[in-house]
Amino acid sequence: MISVKNNRLFIGEVAASGLARRFGTPLYAYDEEAIRSKVSALVQNIAYRPLRIFYAAKANTNLSVLKIIRDEGGQSIGIDAVSPGEIEIALKAGFKPEQVIFTSTSVTDDEMKFAISRKVLVNCDSLSQLERYGRLSPGSKVCFRVNPDVGAGHHGHVITGGPESKFGILAGDVGKAFAIASKYGLKIVGIHQHIGSGILETGKFLTAMKVLLSIIEKNKSGLGDLEFVDFGGGIGVPYRPGQKPINFAKFGAAVSKLFETFCSSFGKKLSLTIEPGRFIVAESGALLCTVNTIKQTPKHKFVGVDTGFHHLIRPMAYGSYHPIVVVDNCGNGGKKEKVAVCGNVCESGDVFTRDEHGIVDRSLPIIKEGDVLAILVAGAYGFSMSSNYNTRPRPAEVLVSGSDVRVIRKREDLAHVIYGM
Ligand SMILES: Cc1ncc(COP(=O)(O)O)c(C=O)c1O
Repeated sequence: MISVKNNRLFIGEVAASGLARRFGTPLYAYDEEAIRSKVSALVQNIAYRPLRIFYAAKANTNLSVLKIIRDEGGQSIGIDAVSPGEIEIALKAGFKPEQVIFTSTSVTDDEMKFAISRKVLVNCDSLSQLERYGRLSPGSKVCFRVNPDVGAGHHGHVITGGPESKFGILAGDVGKAFAIASKYGLKIVGIHQHIGSGILETGKFLTAMKVLLSIIEKNKSGLGDLEFVDFGGGIGVPYRPGQKPINFAKFGAAVSKLFETFCSSFGKKLSLTIEPGRFIVAESGALLCTVNTIKQTPKHKFVGVDTGFHHLIRPMAYGSYHPIVVVDNCGNGGKKEKVAVCGNVCESGDVFTRDEHGIVDRSLPIIKEGDVLAILVAGAYGFSMSSNYNTRPRPAEVLVSGSDVRVIRKREDLAHVIYGM
């Protein structure tokens, strides 16, 4: 777990400052136990069986992270892959083809051929894709994604259901999907939705579940081959002080009950599938960085660090809040001042302490050049959304298991960035 002991930040049993010294910064550090505990919380609190937890690999695709998730999840675990690359990495992590679903958007025929060659179920996002899939693989199993016309999420960019969304087949077009499936002899084994990301109000998730189940009920006659319903991901985690984690025992019980009741009236015991990404990995990760510059301007005291939005884009992309601590002084005592923590990318938006509208100063202990900071809750959509913008190498990733630490991705060097090797 990531915790504070005697005013110092620990990842597992290892002091974050020690990791920074040993491996350098910027550095992504993940705690294995934190990942395992999230997977087991899902498996234990959702009592319904058969249960399929298809981890949305996009949140963090590190091979070692995928292997931990597979190992912890046992029978119930699988992967939601959005690209041929994610299919391949899931298989390399030891998931079987039947434990992987390919849910993408604006999909090419070649990408579908790749999924078919790997024997992975394709989840079609549009009538166009379903038609093309039918031509490529007549008589096979298929799933399709419905836009249930309800959406939710921490930011407009991650709301994936509703009238503004590019995703899924409209509920009113489900009949057309059946016609295409029947033309090609496709067996519709799954119906899917994903309404958005970062949802802390479980009521929204349950409402969307009910909407999808009523769409299925209305279209029951065309769904004789149905094997599972996939309610997508989106389960949120707290980032800001004061945000409360989901009461998982309560949520798991509500999800199970709703689906159990539906299956009895549907007349078939279907598999319940969810696709959490962030929930499993977000809290396991920290981005460690070193302060190199302190600069006072008329409006802000800037604390400049050796990373930026090329390594963690969430504040810049969504105005997201990430907790930031000084790793060797992260308790609540001591003198504090308001600062803006900024990165090393040549854009004014490259400030970690910001919201959608601009910079929001953060009250932090007095910081000096050379101090190591940790940007917390960075295990999801951190490294996986990173880039080489400004021709800068990406950080190393390390995994902490108790007191053991191992590098699970080497730090890139300039040769990698310049020549791609
Ligand atoms: C289809 C699908 N499933 C699951 C997820 C995972 O979402 P989260 O990380 O919020 O659980 C996403 C995220 O974009 C998605 O698009």
